[in-house]
Amino acid sequence: MKKYIVAVTGASGSLFALRLVEALLVTSEVHLVISSAAIKIIAYETSLDLTSRTQEGCVSKLRQHFNTGRLFYYEDDCLHSPLSSGSFITDGMYVVPCSMKTLSGIANGYADNLIIRASDVIIKEGRRLVLSPREMPFSAIHLENMLKLARLGVVIAPPVPAFYSQPKDLNEVIDFITGKLLDAMSVQHNLFKRWKDA
Ligand SMILES: Cc1cc2nc3c(=O)[nH]c(=O)nc-3n(C[C@H](O)[C@H](O)[C@H](O)COP(=O)(O)O)c2cc1C
Repeated sequence: MKKYIVAVTGASGSLFALRLVEALLVTSEVHLVISSAAIKIIAYETSLDLTSRTQEGCVSKLRQHFNTGRLFYYEDDCLHSPLSSGSFITDGMYVVPCSMKTLSGIANGYADNLIIRASDVIIKEGRRLVLSPREMPFSAIHLENMLKLARLGVVIAPPVPAFYSQPKDLNEVIDFITGKLLDAMSVQHNLFKRWKDA
């Protein structure tokens, strides 16, 4: 079974992360890290409230939410987690959404939390890293950090919708973005109709 790390940071767009985890869990094991900033934003933007839960409380709530035992959860300050080491083999890692703070930490190797350390490991081991940076507009600092990472082979996949699939509602927009994120990791899916599909 494939194994992916999904990190959620405190940018807007946590719905994309939840849909991505749901889609990956269909065929894969997911190792989830959520930053403390993201925990608050998830509670604000979605129906999933993990605030004031312990680590064990988060695990049981998440397994209940996604109806699976294939989901593993780590706190962002737990640098002793297996994800901190290159010996933890995965098929790749997502940071969705990726805040400008975490983007900067990854681009500069400033690994003071588990999300940045795990990303650092993925880069040093030559594995697939997909970031979905969310900010509007981007400054030159943000763009330079993205360019630096893109040159290292990191996939920069911001949550930008397209409309050629003629989405009927927000769920279809979210599925389109999620499908593009799955494409970036070569994970098969059926979340949107491809251009020129019959
Ligand atoms: C409601 C809300 C929305 C935010 N949206 C963004 C965003 O879209 N992009 C971003 O870079 N930061 C955003 N921030 C700021 C980050 O949460 C903040 O920089 C935080 O330190 C990021 O920490 P993390 O990367 O460890 O999760 C937002 C903050 C709040 C409270």
